Amino acid sequence: MMTQPFDVDAIRRDFPSLEQRIHGQPLVYLDSAATSQKPLSVIQCINDYYSGANANVHRGSHSLTASATQRFETARQTVADFIGASVKGIVWTRGATEALNLIAQSYARQTLQAGDEILVSEMEHHANIVPWQMVAEQTGAKVVKWPVDPETCQLDLSAFDTLLNHKTKIIAVAHVSNVTGTRNPIENIIDKAHANGAVVVVDGAQAVVHEQVCVNTLNADFYVFSGHKLFAPAGIGALYGKPALLEAMPPWHGGGKMVENVSFDGTTYVTSPAKFEAGTPNVAGALALAEAINWFNNLDRKGAEQHIASLQSQLIDGIKDIEDLSLIGLQQGASVVAFHVDGVHNSDIATLLDQQGIAVRSGQHCAHPLMNALRLNGCVRISIALYNTADEIERCIAAIKKACDLL
Ligand code: ALA
Repeated sequence: MMTQPFDVDAIRRDFPSLEQRIHGQPLVYLDSAATSQKPLSVIQCINDYYSGANANVHRGSHSLTASATQRFETARQTVADFIGASVKGIVWTRGATEALNLIAQSYARQTLQAGDEILVSEMEHHANIVPWQMVAEQTGAKVVKWPVDPETCQLDLSAFDTLLNHKTKIIAVAHVSNVTGTRNPIENIIDKAHANGAVVVVDGAQAVVHEQVCVNTLNADFYVFSGHKLFAPAGIGALYGKPALLEAMPPWHGGGKMVENVSFDGTTYVTSPAKFEAGTPNVAGALALAEAINWFNNLDRKGAEQHIASLQSQLIDGIKDIEDLSLIGLQQGASVVAFHVDGVHNSDIATLLDQQGIAVRSGQHCAHPLMNALRLNGCVRISIALYNTADEIERCIAAIKKACDLL
């Protein structure tokens, strides 16, 4: 299909949820880093599946199950192609969080020894910190903090060179920060980690929506993302692992379809990825994620990113001179603007924006260590998606000014 030039009005017609009013005002949805809204084709895909194609997969031989199985596996191929992976490397999960826990409990728990180190960046979402703390407790390994420079909100690369040592076995790092939009130089990080013999786990939840990711080119060992930030429903996501690593890992959950043979004398397992997919999977979610990816791929993605970057500049220009307001980080990740206002609680600003129909996120953004490093008790985060418009950004700027005047 020919890609159409980016047209925000046409895009918006695909999103029925944007047509609602909140507190009597047209909704301005600026919380897409928390979860994106869903296009009609994705909503329709779920409806169609449950209306006429619902069946379990990889079980039985009737026509509906055969068709569901074939679509389920085609969806896996779509996900693999989307991130430049081989299909053997794609495991369905409930989302990025489950994928990270799977890596911690299957790969790390098996390979770490007492005294080994897991280097975790300070800007991580809790989902890329807590599973490492849990496995460190189980194995005697140690979680080592890789600090953020509080002035720039970037990872301290000279600290990385110092912290990386022969005990470092795993590096856990976000491709793009969920709080500031900071893009980490993961190409460089992966090269250095590999030269040191460590594997790299990349949280790609915020990145896959904004750049074309190729895990093969990156040479990432593990890469995870969720469907719900990518125009798909919640409850579906993917873990990419290098096939050789996945093959060597033991299963995490036990149940149906991940086994070769079960007896009370012992059980043998099938190969990856099925080995990691115990129980009936989220078939509708997998099909809807593939539909979302197809919808996204048919857009002018470069045009979409330019549109988002221009809205981001408009927003920054509109608020940067507000008294006592400080922008957080360099905002080089074109989709997020995070800020705080001296003497004003972030949730009060978000509440006043909500009263004007504007949805933004406030609080600590599941990133307590980053907030502590920045000496903040929280901030307001505005996250822009391809369906937002310049008019919406103008309304948001006016609402922030009004909130700051009132508070
Ligand atoms: N991880 C999501 C966010 O950043 C929920 O808001």
